[in-house]
Amino acid sequence: MEKYLVTSALTYANGKLHIGHIAGSYLNADIFVRYQKLLGNDVLYVGGSDDYGTPISLKAEEENVSPQEIVDKFNKSMRADLKGLNIQLDNFSGTSHQNHIKDSQDFFTDLLDAGYIIKKKLKQFYDNKQKRFLSDRYVEGICPFCNAEGARGDQCDNCGKLINAMELINPISKLSGEIPIIKETTHWYLELPKFEAELREWLNSKTYWKDNVRNFVLGWLNEGLKERGITRDLNWGVPIPLENTEGKVLYVWFDAPIGYITSTKEWAEKLGKPERWKDYWLDKDTKMIHFLGKDNIPFHTIIWPAMLLKQKVNYILPHDVPANEYLNLEGKKMSTSRNWTVWVEDYLRYFDGEYLRYVLAVNAPETKDSDFSWEDFRIRINSELNNVLGNLANRTCVFSNKYFDGKIKRPTELSGLSVKTLKTVHELVEDIGRSYSNYQVRKATKQFMDIARIGNKYFDETQPWKEISTNKEKASETLYVCLDILRILSIVASPIIPISMKTLHDMIGVEDKINWDNIKNETFAFFINYVKRLFRKIDEKEIKEQIEILKKTQERNMKEEKIVEHKSQIDYDDFSKLEFRIVKILEAQRVKKSNKLLHLKVNIGGEERTVIAGIGKDYKPEDIIGRKVPMLINLKPRSVMGIESQAMILAAEDEGKLSILYPDRDVKEGSEIS
Ligand code: MF3
Ligand code: ZN
Repeated sequence: MEKYLVTSALTYANGKLHIGHIAGSYLNADIFVRYQKLLGNDVLYVGGSDDYGTPISLKAEEENVSPQEIVDKFNKSMRADLKGLNIQLDNFSGTSHQNHIKDSQDFFTDLLDAGYIIKKKLKQFYDNKQKRFLSDRYVEGICPFCNAEGARGDQCDNCGKLINAMELINPISKLSGEIPIIKETTHWYLELPKFEAELREWLNSKTYWKDNVRNFVLGWLNEGLKERGITRDLNWGVPIPLENTEGKVLYVWFDAPIGYITSTKEWAEKLGKPERWKDYWLDKDTKMIHFLGKDNIPFHTIIWPAMLLKQKVNYILPHDVPANEYLNLEGKKMSTSRNWTVWVEDYLRYFDGEYLRYVLAVNAPETKDSDFSWEDFRIRINSELNNVLGNLANRTCVFSNKYFDGKIKRPTELSGLSVKTLKTVHELVEDIGRSYSNYQVRKATKQFMDIARIGNKYFDETQPWKEISTNKEKASETLYVCLDILRILSIVASPIIPISMKTLHDMIGVEDKINWDNIKNETFAFFINYVKRLFRKIDEKEIKEQIEILKKTQERNMKEEKIVEHKSQIDYDDFSKLEFRIVKILEAQRVKKSNKLLHLKVNIGGEERTVIAGIGKDYKPEDIIGRKVPMLINLKPRSVMGIESQAMILAAEDEGKLSILYPDRDVKEGSEIS
């Protein structure tokens, strides 16, 4: 028997769960856990809400309530949503629960004692109006790595890189909207460079990790690790376990992963066996699997293992970190601030949790970003769940009831076709097992649907509706094989659609427990208990309604967005300092390691310049060579990823997409714009 400790990234308790959370780290974990349980392995699945840090204190400030109130409200709503989707954690905790503070402080103390934490004086952004230091999300600006706007003081959503707030270009305080001043403070740093060799060696053994994860981590290591600040000037968080450190707390990313441990301890306590957490965390045979979205990779593959390595308690390290990419919605990047998402709570008001599980499984963003659209949802439920799987179950059971009183026995001998069909199904079962073990949920979903397709094809080919009057035994054999296929499906598809598969299992009257080993057992007789439609069809009207709901919130947001704050007025003199000219793009290529930046060579009218333009997501180099576009050419050159950029391209931004501008008719390069 194998032992697993499975985690889903703790969700910030500043909002409700949406389909992005489910596709990113909950559904895939739940499916993996259910599969391991079918195998009879020992699995513990823990998670909870991430209660500290600036995401929560900012939200509390916005709503004018205490952070704890925010946390309690959203922790509760998360539990309800997970339940509605049948995502079954063994414990769903929250980092503001008791014991978390002490354990997090111990982590700090152990690292300090072992000589891996240093104290430094440094300069930080400070909001002089509010008289507060601006840590992490309290300050926003332009990403120093990819030039994206709206990068936060902790991380850039666009390129996923971790940011040191002081590196932000054009920083703005979220509290007052003012440009922050710089002030001295004291903080504690985790000396990551000291871990480099140890981490590299550990990572070298992780050859089985997903490519996207391994490449990301190796890239990070190769760039050279830097010290990371692990404390903050904030009043919401785990207090630093040192004298005279009022107003300073541990950085949320330091205490959060410790939440996996404290959630396990909470589980053990609720069980009445408070020592049981050790069976997982202190046993080298436990495989710890962290499910998470790609923005969480560096924390779980570098910082967290480093923290674990130097504890007095001998904790296990992560075994695997199957990170997912992002889920888009209707072709557009999801955004909670713009309400462009589907909240689980809202979804559950209209549809069954099983359908979302199925559709998110088949569209899982495993190796690249994927998309959720309502039309795809409808088609998949109707033409896959209903017309393939539901149909096989329905026609087989209805037929068995009508002609055989619901009792179907195994024929003494199976025809060549029946044997062959079942053999193919058994082979697919092996494949599905492999897919589940490798976190390939998309594949597993398609494979079990293929089994149902094989069942339908076999039903069609053997034509029991004809055989019933001429060769009743033949018809009975068909039903037997189809029921056996349904029995197998009720096991192999159960990690993805557990409730409907339980219904199916009950329906066809199989006594065995649902577990993977039982797939091999031959059933000698089926007794149809009842016939029930497993899935309902989704009407086009229902989908239209959902799209309307999405649009409405968008319109509301657009209206809100219209009250944009405009920049303050300038004099003509200010404007006349800017030199805009039409330039011709002579060459264009991508900047290495950046999906956003293009390296351009342009002619500004008799002179050539190098430009780094952040338009690489929306334009291919070959699309823009030869184009004439306006640029600001007297901005002081700046170095972007080691290349000097000597002009700035102008582009309009609409819903995150950039559109470059062109003159209305052909004009010579160098033409001045005024
Ligand atoms: N709350 C973080 C996020 O949503 C994830 C925390 S994962 C943990 O990005 F390991 F730190 F708990
Ligand atoms: Zn960035």
